[in-house]
Amino acid sequence: MKSVPRAILCMIGLVFGCFLFLLTVPIDREGKNWCLKLLIYAVNVVGWEFNTTRNTSQYVLRNEFNSVIMPERVCDQKSLLVMMVCSAPANFEARRAIRETWGSERRVLGHSVSLYFLIGETVNSSMQNEVVLESDQFGDIIQERFIDSYNNLTLKSIVMLKLATTYCINTTSYLLKIDDDMFVNVPRLVESLSDRNESTNVLLGKLICGARPIKDISSKWYSPRYMYQEKVYPNYLSGTGYVMSLDVAKRLFDTTLMTPIFHLEDIYLTGICAKKAGIKPHNQPMFTYRQLHYEPCEFRNLVTMHHFPPLLLRETFEALRDPDLDKNCEKYKPMFDSHRWLLNNILKPNRTNRKNRCD
Ligand SMILES: *[C@@H]1O[C@H](CO)[C@@H](O)[C@H](O)[C@H]1NC(C)=O
Ligand SMILES: *[C@@H]1O[C@H](CO)[C@@H](O)[C@H](O)[C@H]1NC(C)=O
Ligand SMILES: *[C@@H]1O[C@H](CO)[C@@H](O)[C@H](O)[C@H]1NC(C)=O
Ligand SMILES: *[C@@H]1O[C@H](CO)[C@@H](O)[C@H](O)[C@H]1NC(C)=O
Ligand SMILES: *[C@@H]1O[C@H](CO)[C@@H](O)[C@H](O)[C@H]1NC(C)=O
Ligand SMILES: *[C@@H]1O[C@H](CO)[C@@H](O)[C@H](O)[C@H]1NC(C)=O
Ligand SMILES: *[C@@H]1O[C@H](CO)[C@@H](O)[C@H](O)[C@H]1NC(C)=O
Repeated sequence: MKSVPRAILCMIGLVFGCFLFLLTVPIDREGKNWCLKLLIYAVNVVGWEFNTTRNTSQYVLRNEFNSVIMPERVCDQKSLLVMMVCSAPANFEARRAIRETWGSERRVLGHSVSLYFLIGETVNSSMQNEVVLESDQFGDIIQERFIDSYNNLTLKSIVMLKLATTYCINTTSYLLKIDDDMFVNVPRLVESLSDRNESTNVLLGKLICGARPIKDISSKWYSPRYMYQEKVYPNYLSGTGYVMSLDVAKRLFDTTLMTPIFHLEDIYLTGICAKKAGIKPHNQPMFTYRQLHYEPCEFRNLVTMHHFPPLLLRETFEALRDPDLDKNCEKYKPMFDSHRWLLNNILKPNRTNRKNRCD
């Protein structure tokens, strides 16, 4: 009778002791500590478990085309820019808002631009029917053969490069990758692209430097060692929106076919693959990935802005089209954003490990 509680106590003690021991061991230490390794490897990235193949060629074939939905004509006109909006089957409202606002114009400041929504597959057949109807109506949806999910965003971006390389390379100078919760100031973007002397070797966006893999398993950017072994990510561009010239798209696509997939698409494409291909991502201050407070006078000079619900998209679009905007903004002085300052400096410093340290 007496030995049972003792055995339980002993086990609790052992577990607790092991836990304390693990706390004291630096998580990144190389070594033969199988207990620690087991613990790290035990938490997999959903869909990219450590025995799942990450060989890109197993998912995306260079010369095989088997899209579920493909518009009749893609990039068949000479254009400055093709905008690929990475969307998800369920985001009908976001697509509608984009079509009615910043995505509505095919000619901007005398340049042609085109726009497509890129989505993956859904298992929900009634949703799929709605997507097909939407595509019949607007002809701007490209649906590819992979399950649409957060951890498959890298596949979506690789497919985007394949499409751009296949259909757009002879007609179009630049590719914009953008999420469907973003506002894009298209005239501002077109202006800055058409001002460039060289339309090759361009990779632009919001540059993030010195970011480290996040070991917190509850983070959506969680990255275990089996996915990425180095201590620091290469400099990369925020995935909310980035621009590249089509020659870069081709070189990046070729590189992805030889580079194991990493589940965070921006780090994979504009960091890991760009570095391997010898392409340097550049910071373009007009790209932001934060939500600003609602202020058209600040939006004027920006190209991308994050987290726009459809209603705000419409308001912003109207505000930016106001011919008196520049005049009305003459007296505008940027407000001190105390809320953001508090959040960034006091409440949650280093909350994502994605601190900017670019020199
Ligand atoms: C990978 O491991 C999971 C869970 O252990 C298992 O269900 C799956 O079949 C394995 N996949 C492969 C390709 O071995
Ligand atoms: C990836 O898959 C392709 C096609 O199946 C194969 O030819 C290639 O050798 C694989 N690459 C690696 C590194 O395993
Ligand atoms: C399937 O899609 C329809 C329409 O988009 C939606 O109303 C329904 O909730 C979805 N069903 C499931 C199981 O997610
Ligand atoms: C990604 O897509 C592939 C191909 O459809 C699928 O097998 C896999 O389960 C998907 N992964 C995730 C994380 O959804
Ligand atoms: C683009 O041009 C190349 C070389 O002239 C040609 O081989 C290729 O078929 C063209 N692609 C398209 C989609 O027209
Ligand atoms: C483009 O070239 C001209 C003349 O060579 C030069 O003066 C100008 O600064 C260049 N513009 C850019 C954006 O590099
Ligand atoms: C946040 O990160 C910076 C640079 O990595 C570091 O100097 C600073 O001490 C960190 N702040 C906190 C509160 O951890």
